Amino acid sequence: MGLTYRRAEARDWKILLDWRNDPVTRQNSFETGEVDEASHRSWFERSMSMDTRRIYILQVDQVDAGMVRADEQDGSVTLSWNVAPNMRGKGLGKRMVQLIKEAQHLPVRAEIKAQNVPSIKIAEFCGLVLLKTEGDTLIYGEK
Ligand SMILES: CC(C)(COP(=O)(O)OP(=O)(O)OC[C@H]1O[C@@H](n2cnc3c(N)ncnc32)[C@H](O)[C@@H]1OP(=O)(O)O)[C@@H](O)C(=O)NCCC(=O)NCCS
Repeated sequence: MGLTYRRAEARDWKILLDWRNDPVTRQNSFETGEVDEASHRSWFERSMSMDTRRIYILQVDQVDAGMVRADEQDGSVTLSWNVAPNMRGKGLGKRMVQLIKEAQHLPVRAEIKAQNVPSIKIAEFCGLVLLKTEGDTLIYGEK
């Protein structure tokens, strides 16, 4: 599969909302409630204007297939990710997070719910290790 990425643009608000409100995504998010359109749009607008946040859209053969968000703080970049529901279970999660990790110029970390086994596997595939546990949140990062 031809995997590429681009930075999110204003028109991407809708696909990001659809992926965000998918039930599996909600289960694995720190905020599990359904996000309404108005609050998503204001979150997205704010995100697009932040110097410290980048949202990447991953494409498979030019079709939008997933996203990775990168938040810069205190000398590291926290990644979080979401694969389009119809594209899961094909190895895309591992490949897309690896690709975005390689594009960062700072050490990478991720906060993952302990029950999110696919994401733990993704983090480990990308060379991240478990640094610490905070309640049911696992903090992965580079050694
Ligand atoms: C987590 C998520 C990104 C995984 O994406 P994906 O493209 O399905 O992942 P991959 O196909 O690369 O699989 C990664 C690993 O998880 C395993 N896996 C994938 N789906 C699984 C499932 N439902 N149950 C158990 N294992 C699963 C794969 O077999 C693979 O393991 P392996 O390395 O041993 O082969 C996707 O399910 C998703 O978007 N979930 C909702 C959002 C989310 O949880 N985001 C993470 C917040 S940090």
